[in-house]
Amino acid sequence: MAAKGCRPSRQDISAPVAVETDDKPAVLVRLELDHHRMSWVMDALEDEIRKLSDGGEYDLSRIEDALGYLAAYADTVHHPLEDRMFDNVLDKGLTPAERALVLGNLKQHVDIIEATRIARRDVANVLNDIVVPLERLVADLTDYVALQRTHMRTERQQLFPLAERFLTQPEWQAIAEQFEQSPDPMFDLKTKAFERLYESIVER
Ligand SMILES: [Fe+2]
Ligand SMILES: [Fe+2]
Repeated sequence: MAAKGCRPSRQDISAPVAVETDDKPAVLVRLELDHHRMSWVMDALEDEIRKLSDGGEYDLSRIEDALGYLAAYADTVHHPLEDRMFDNVLDKGLTPAERALVLGNLKQHVDIIEATRIARRDVANVLNDIVVPLERLVADLTDYVALQRTHMRTERQQLFPLAERFLTQPEWQAIAEQFEQSPDPMFDLKTKAFERLYESIVER
């Protein structure tokens, strides 16, 4: 169970998505679990980036699957859920610095979604034998993982505490209800399309 201060192990990879704890709204529990899962996907991407840059035997379809998962869940559910939460936060009495932080994060979601689209296009081009310089692919994917990790760290350290401070119980409830029908396609639904990636993450 993903409770406050408790990092789930890979054996807990299919832990319930949203578990209300005494001291944390279920939406935040879900978002933090998403971050753990996304960080495991970043580990998988980094494995392949390392092999790409070392001249090892890389697996482009694993990169394709990882980016496909991030497009299907992080970009389609996780970030929109956060956007909804941060839209509520913007209605509160924020300081100018807090407001800038929230607006910057919303803008970063747009940047990440675009970065996922470009990375998927580049990987698809390589798989279709369209020439993409390997160095550029490595550099772009490295930047992509760094952006995702920095983004998640800022949310965990600064944005989530801000939401926890300002949002009311009815607001948390409304957000939870809006997204409860949007489960994670890999870790919760075990969708066939992500089966190989999932196995590689669990076995890592
Ligand atoms: Fe985010
Ligand atoms: Fe996030």
